[in-house]
Amino acid sequence: MEIFIDTADVEEIRRANELGIIDGVTTNPSLVAKTGRSFQEVVEEIVQIVDGPISLETVSTDAEGMLKEAHQLAEIHPNVVIKIPMIEEGLKAVRTLTDEGIKTNVTLMFSANQALLAAKAGASYVSPFLGRLDDIGHTGMEIIHEIRTIYDNYGFPTKILAASLRHPIHVKEAAMIGADVATIPYKALMQMVKHSLTDVGLAKFLADWEKVPNKPF
Ligand code: G3P
Repeated sequence: MEIFIDTADVEEIRRANELGIIDGVTTNPSLVAKTGRSFQEVVEEIVQIVDGPISLETVSTDAEGMLKEAHQLAEIHPNVVIKIPMIEEGLKAVRTLTDEGIKTNVTLMFSANQALLAAKAGASYVSPFLGRLDDIGHTGMEIIHEIRTIYDNYGFPTKILAASLRHPIHVKEAAMIGADVATIPYKALMQMVKHSLTDVGLAKFLADWEKVPNKPF
């Protein structure tokens, strides 16, 4: 499973990347706004830190505008993946970008049928938003199951990128179902590292080590 970090905060990206486990980055307009920094500046730093797919989102709602923005974004770095919203105009833009050899990530995905259509349009990734489905009383994880089944039934190469993950259980369940990628917020990623028994066990090992005579280090 590939692990992407879901943030536009370059310090978080830098720290997570130092762990040696980050395959890519996803951003969206809200995450960029949260940094309070200029888009261009943030993106130029991100592409220098992580050598993997970096999703950057278009903000037009018509295919022509999306394509214009996509071409501009694709110029920034070869690793840029164009994030397009799952709307009719978005599908048109995805088909054109796919035919041009530009990678896409179809976002704001909330049903298996949306994922089927995005795969037909040639999307490189689909981003089902699990947490936001949970927020409205649905079981977000169900659509990962459904999309996995549909893609496997027909051999669609589109990757399932589990998004809107809020906690480690989301990541574990998405991994067990077979999502190709999990994009994880920094906080949840750090929660995955931690276990109280690891901390207790390490403290005990270090305390006992002090009792060992003639230590080499
Ligand atoms: O990758 C999509 C993600 O950023 C949305 O997460 O927590 O705003 O639903 P959230």
